[in-house]
Amino acid sequence: MEETKTLAATDAGILQAANLLRSGRLVAFPTETVYGLGGDARQDETVARIFAAKGRPRFNPLIVHVPSLAAAERVAVFDARARAVATAFWPGPLTLVLPQRSGAGLSPLVTADLPTVAVRVPAHPVARALLEAFGGPLAAPSANPSGRVSPTRAAHVLAGLAGQIAAVLDGGACAVGVESTILGLDGDSPRLLRPGGLPLEALEAALGQQIASGGSAAKPNAPGQLASHYAPAAVVRLNAHAAETGEILVGFGPVRGDLTLSAAGDLVEAAAALFHLLREADALAGPGGRIAFAPVPETGLGRAINDRLRRAAAPRP
Ligand code: TXA
Ligand code: MG
Repeated sequence: MEETKTLAATDAGILQAANLLRSGRLVAFPTETVYGLGGDARQDETVARIFAAKGRPRFNPLIVHVPSLAAAERVAVFDARARAVATAFWPGPLTLVLPQRSGAGLSPLVTADLPTVAVRVPAHPVARALLEAFGGPLAAPSANPSGRVSPTRAAHVLAGLAGQIAAVLDGGACAVGVESTILGLDGDSPRLLRPGGLPLEALEAALGQQIASGGSAAKPNAPGQLASHYAPAAVVRLNAHAAETGEILVGFGPVRGDLTLSAAGDLVEAAAALFHLLREADALAGPGGRIAFAPVPETGLGRAINDRLRRAAAPRP
């Protein structure tokens, strides 16, 4: 156990965070999607500590965060299609799975020994400043214990990981609120490996083709896509139009609940609120409690919201 510092997102705080990272420590930082648990992607021991802090299985690889497309090209091999997508959407809530560049210097633990690597250029100004100050690739899974709800505020990070990491940079609430969309571009046809903060429709428009879901024949599905994930303590029921006795109902649009994802039925607002509301509803429901969620349309950010809700509701191992 160590004492976890909360650092303000000022120049001094960012510098302190970069220095901790340089000495191999773990620092959680805000991105536009969720908070990441950052560590030097080139140091085996640091990366091993990320897995240990999260209680994450070693076969589930991490996303490498870099400040620019040029930096991404030093760890992954981009073809014209990958470069076009990156140019259109980076910085932003998109992760690309690409062939790993040999000699990139990444710890093999980052990629769980896969020949591919997941890379992303985040848009959050604090994440960008941190990457610039650190000057290298940061491995950063979401900053929550494995299988639990992802963090969209510094307080969420501390609730799950205090004592396990050196510091959290406090950048306030994350604007997007769900993790990045993961696009596999390591095979002939693009694959959606995880719906996320960049709507599928935008990617399909940019690529000029439909994108299939799931792993390609040559590759397993994103190994982190275990059925039960984002699990609160309470039991979760989906597609609820009214609360059953004892349930906390989280509404959307016309379905009014004890809490609401968005009274206006706005999917952007709902995504930004999702993980915080899941925690709030969990606290309200109490031990052994039950939470119900109103239906959310399966379009735009609704795909990512429903994906996370289905995992929250999945039977626990
Ligand atoms: O928005 C996000 O993506 C956040 C922020 C912090 O950037 N990060 C995040 O990381 O969600 P994490 O570790 O919770 O999710 C990473 C996902 C996992 O499902 C993992 O299996 C998948 O990316 N992944 C990583 N490398 C992969 C690879 N080479 N092939 C397929 N999937 C990969
Ligand atoms: Mg995660």
